[in-house]
Amino acid sequence: MKIYRAKDYNDMSRKAANIISAQVIMKPGCVLGLATGSTPIGAYRQLVEWYKKGDLDFSEVTTVNLDEYRGLTRENDQSYYYFMNENLFDHINIDKSRTFLPDGMEADSDKACRDYNEIIQSVGGVDLQLLGLGHNGHIGFNEPGIAFETETHCVNLTERTIKANMRFFPAEKDVPRQAYTMGIKTIMSAKKILVVVSGEDKADIVKEAFFGPVTPAVPASILQLHNDVIVVADEAALAKCSDTADDK
Ligand code: GLP
Repeated sequence: MKIYRAKDYNDMSRKAANIISAQVIMKPGCVLGLATGSTPIGAYRQLVEWYKKGDLDFSEVTTVNLDEYRGLTRENDQSYYYFMNENLFDHINIDKSRTFLPDGMEADSDKACRDYNEIIQSVGGVDLQLLGLGHNGHIGFNEPGIAFETETHCVNLTERTIKANMRFFPAEKDVPRQAYTMGIKTIMSAKKILVVVSGEDKADIVKEAFFGPVTPAVPASILQLHNDVIVVADEAALAKCSDTADDK
């Protein structure tokens, strides 16, 4: 695991966007695993800017997103489908028929998960998976306690995650209680993983996840066992880790 220290959120976003760009340039037909949440927004903005300058071409790229709320339509502005279009896909030359998310409106959860696993397989697996980090160490919507060998599955969100996501909804009752998410096994199958983390409120979990024991109680800790992980974190997020600028 390599940990890159960024000065602040903008620096983290630029460094992350550079790594994603490198992937797209080196393999124009690559499969990017993408993430939502507030942390990757700056990196997406940077990619759009470089695309507009003519430095990037997404025409052959395929994307698979980590997760989607169960029960939100694609038109709902809180669905991750909507988020991805608004923050990235609408602004670059990606072929939208090659951008995939779990189908949040598929009521049969076994089918939704099976279909999504098949999609990931059919595109040949993920070359570079982008991840944010939840306050409790979740990645995607893999909450503490999740078995490491799971693939795409339906999860009940924890109270903490529901509260954290409440800021995006009119009221707590509007926050979906379930989501479809790639499992830890799916995430660990990506060839390369890029984690972005920002802010002092993540400092405790960064230390636990990347310097503590590998345990299902902290789902992100499994990333320590992947052979190609880059963490780009800003100084605030790294505040509780003493020696972090290099390889771990
Ligand atoms: C959500 C998403 C995760 C994301 C996490 C952290 O629960 N499902 O994929 O990483 O929140 O979000 P943020 O980046 O806003 O802190």
